[in-house]
Amino acid sequence: MGAVECFSFLLVVMVLSITQSQADQNVNWWSETVPYEMGMKKMTKLHFYLHNNITGDYPTAFKIAETPGANISATRFGELFMVDNPLTEGPDPNSRLVGRAQGLYGSSEMNELSLIMGMSLVFTGDKKFNGSTISVFTRNPITHKEREFAIVGGTGYFRYAHGFISSKTYWASGKNGIVEYNCSIVHFE
Ligand SMILES: *[C@@H]1O[C@H](CO)[C@@H](O)[C@H](O)[C@H]1NC(C)=O
Ligand SMILES: *[C@@H]1O[C@H](CO)[C@@H](O)[C@H](O)[C@H]1NC(C)=O
Ligand SMILES: *[C@@H]1O[C@H](CO)[C@@H](O)[C@H](O)[C@H]1NC(C)=O
Ligand SMILES: *[C@@H]1O[C@H](CO)[C@@H](O)[C@H](O)[C@H]1NC(C)=O
Repeated sequence: MGAVECFSFLLVVMVLSITQSQADQNVNWWSETVPYEMGMKKMTKLHFYLHNNITGDYPTAFKIAETPGANISATRFGELFMVDNPLTEGPDPNSRLVGRAQGLYGSSEMNELSLIMGMSLVFTGDKKFNGSTISVFTRNPITHKEREFAIVGGTGYFRYAHGFISSKTYWASGKNGIVEYNCSIVHFE
């Protein structure tokens, strides 16, 4: 073996062994605490309308479970719905689709008509936010004129998100409704 070949051989062995030791570290990796250095926090404000239709031609909210007494409870306590509700730019259901609200809500109070909601809002109408989500887990006292919801997390553009939503019923008829959402989202991206 000439000096050059010998050197290359050693280099390959070194690279392979470093790669191997990194692989070993990955196998045994359990925890790591590092300094928390991220970009500047930003606030994104979003305004849109959520369409929650239980009846009609294209319902997007479906009852999936209820407690035995839900149908005789004045507050429908224990009714649970699964939803995939459209979010549009304006109150008109035919205005630009900006995303969907996917998840669960159920009647969670015995004395007042109020919901607990656990939903992921996925935004698709805009290149910048496409596929990014915010997670909402919150009480929703639906008879109140204005309600405030908690944003507890996010993905993609909204990684590390927290914030709140100010909401108001825009229109309601029977079991269908349109709700105005103003989101204030603090995030890093
Ligand atoms: C409520 O639902 C139960 C079944 O879960 C049914 O047996 C009962 O008749 C219903 N009561 C009313 C008032 O609709
Ligand atoms: C929801 O139902 C109402 C009628 O109650 C209808 O006018 C509206 O177009 C429906 N919305 C969607 C998004 O399908
Ligand atoms: C969002 O992404 C999907 C696929 O990932 C793509 O089909 C769609 O055109 C994108 N929408 C926008 C507005 O960029
Ligand atoms: C959302 O913000 C707009 C503009 O500030 C305001 O006119 C509207 O009343 C707000 N709606 C809600 C539900 O907070």
